Amino acid sequence: MLLKNKLGLSDEIELAKEEERITKIKAIQLFETGELNKFEVGTFKGLAQIHKYLFEDIYDFAGKIRTENISKSNFRFASAMYLESALKQIDKMPQSNFDEIIEKYVEMNIAHPFREGNGRSTRIWLDMIFKKELGKVVDWSKVNKEDYLLAMERSPIKNTEIKVLLKDALTNKINDREVYIKGIDASYRYEGYNLFNISDLNNN
Ligand SMILES: Nc1ncnc2c1ncn2[C@@H]1O[C@H](COP(=O)(O)OP(=O)(O)OP(=O)(O)O)[C@@H](O)[C@H]1O
Ligand SMILES: [Mg+2]
Repeated sequence: MLLKNKLGLSDEIELAKEEERITKIKAIQLFETGELNKFEVGTFKGLAQIHKYLFEDIYDFAGKIRTENISKSNFRFASAMYLESALKQIDKMPQSNFDEIIEKYVEMNIAHPFREGNGRSTRIWLDMIFKKELGKVVDWSKVNKEDYLLAMERSPIKNTEIKVLLKDALTNKINDREVYIKGIDASYRYEGYNLFNISDLNNN
């Protein structure tokens, strides 16, 4: 299904490629301009700021709560009707240690507040919490993409797998651009293919 977009694209694969390319550039800008450090940490407001920044040139819904119900591989994310109240509850969840932070991340993933682009924006959001509370971030290059997706699919029922996976990948390299940007392509984007490599960016 093709999402209405500001790029005037009507081909799904074209849109996926452009979306990937633009969000990677925006993610780097977000990091290098220091804009990211101005955003709220651990709240929906902060997540919406990230999402808006990454997707504002692509979708009208950038930074906005979805009004449709969505699902992935038979899992229904939070009903649009209850989304606002769910997000208020998530805002209040504690984030003072590793387990609490993952539990909050899992709940935010179940909320899936945006029509598209939840994975990318929520991984950056998660890293900002880790950075502030633990002085660490996830080195996404150490996280196997398939394992990550399986662990996230499992997480609404049991969060042990995602906890183990991310705990093993924590690093002190909190200001490393490469470590940060890996989170943007940490899962399979379009039918299992990574369409755009960050190394392509550095070549031009
Ligand atoms: N069946 C599922 N149950 C729970 N969570 C899921 C499921 N499938 C995917 N997810 C989570 O949703 C994310 C994808 O959401 P979405 O497509 O909105 O974001 P994205 O930024 O486009 O994707 P990506 O995470 O692939 O970069 C995955 O990264 C994963 O965390
Ligand atoms: Mg997606």
